[in-house]
Amino acid sequence: MEPIHLFVPTFRIEESLAEIRECLEKGWTGLGFKTVAFEAAWCEYTRLPHAHFLNSASAGLHLAFKLLKEADGWQPGDEVITTPLTFVATNHAILYEDLQPVFADVDDHLCLDPRSVAERITPRTRAVCFVGLGGNAGRYAEVRDLCRQRGLRLVLDAAHMAGTRTGGHHAGWDADAAVFSFQAVKNLPTADSGMICFAGAGLDAEVRKWTWLGINRDTYTRTLEGGTYKWLYDVEHVGYKYHGNSIMAGLGLVALKYLEEDNGYRRQLAAWYDDELAGAPGIERIPMAPGTTPSRHLYQVLVDDRDEVMVGLNRRGVFPGVHYRDNTLYRMYAFAAGTCPRASRASEQLISLPLHLRLGREEVRRVGEALREAVADRNEARP
Ligand SMILES: Cc1ncc(COP(=O)(O)O)c(C=O)c1O
Repeated sequence: MEPIHLFVPTFRIEESLAEIRECLEKGWTGLGFKTVAFEAAWCEYTRLPHAHFLNSASAGLHLAFKLLKEADGWQPGDEVITTPLTFVATNHAILYEDLQPVFADVDDHLCLDPRSVAERITPRTRAVCFVGLGGNAGRYAEVRDLCRQRGLRLVLDAAHMAGTRTGGHHAGWDADAAVFSFQAVKNLPTADSGMICFAGAGLDAEVRKWTWLGINRDTYTRTLEGGTYKWLYDVEHVGYKYHGNSIMAGLGLVALKYLEEDNGYRRQLAAWYDDELAGAPGIERIPMAPGTTPSRHLYQVLVDDRDEVMVGLNRRGVFPGVHYRDNTLYRMYAFAAGTCPRASRASEQLISLPLHLRLGREEVRRVGEALREAVADRNEARP
């Protein structure tokens, strides 16, 4: 039987090649041209006011903290409350700016628990970073309200949230900055790229300089402007090479056209998993935030003896993943070990089941059956 893998991205190959061909024929593969078109298409789709295309979400998270820090005058060692149940890119971004990650615990959604966030606020807290794990908004709205009450900035790590809607809005509409990932296996796949969406026009204008080495007019804009002094620009401050390019943007433009349809199918796969696993002993499903439409980047379950269950799944031809290990188990974040017991427990129980567009009802049935069997084997083996 064919193995069933966690992620297999689907690219609309002919349409994607046409986008790339256009770049090659025009002789413009870098910043500008398609990146401008993708930013506009993203704003139109999400209704977010600003969007700047990047080479990754990791870069975007870094710049979210950098620019908010500069705007508000945060000092080194000021604190950002964050989750331990995320890809390390989230928390590294806080450290890039000499800020202090303070870990709060998660709730049943595996996203930040607003009560735990409230407990971790100190006079040095400046911001909260909320991660919409797997596209789930969790109790984001409560965390947002808490931030507003306490005068804290809110960064949404929306790496998994392309297409997630909460209360009729696209995820990120009410954050100071929302950062999306279009990395190779995300639900809007390119190869590597991301988008940073600041709430304010000032920070949006500023971030465009930071992603192009501090240069104040990019080459594409200068080309469009024409005139004798096309080559002339100023460098206002040090910056990074973080901007996206037209090849990635071309892939993104095609993927965006299909995002609604694709996420709809992901939700269908999730509903089939729900049917397979409802009431199955020893398998806990993760509730999606009520009243929201999640992207369903992931379908996660919690089981005891996870590592053995994973081996049992592999033996049955199913190859799932784990998102994520509690970051405080990593040496560099061990200073916070033991501070988030719910996240630590989940980290030992989590499995992300295969979820991608090439799966059908039969594959979901096979995975469901394999998981029920693997869990039952473990239950029998227990004293
Ligand atoms: C939750 C989360 N945040 C941030 C990132 C970083 O995204 P990128 O690979 O685009 O830098 C990822 C990517 O895996 C992620 O899953």
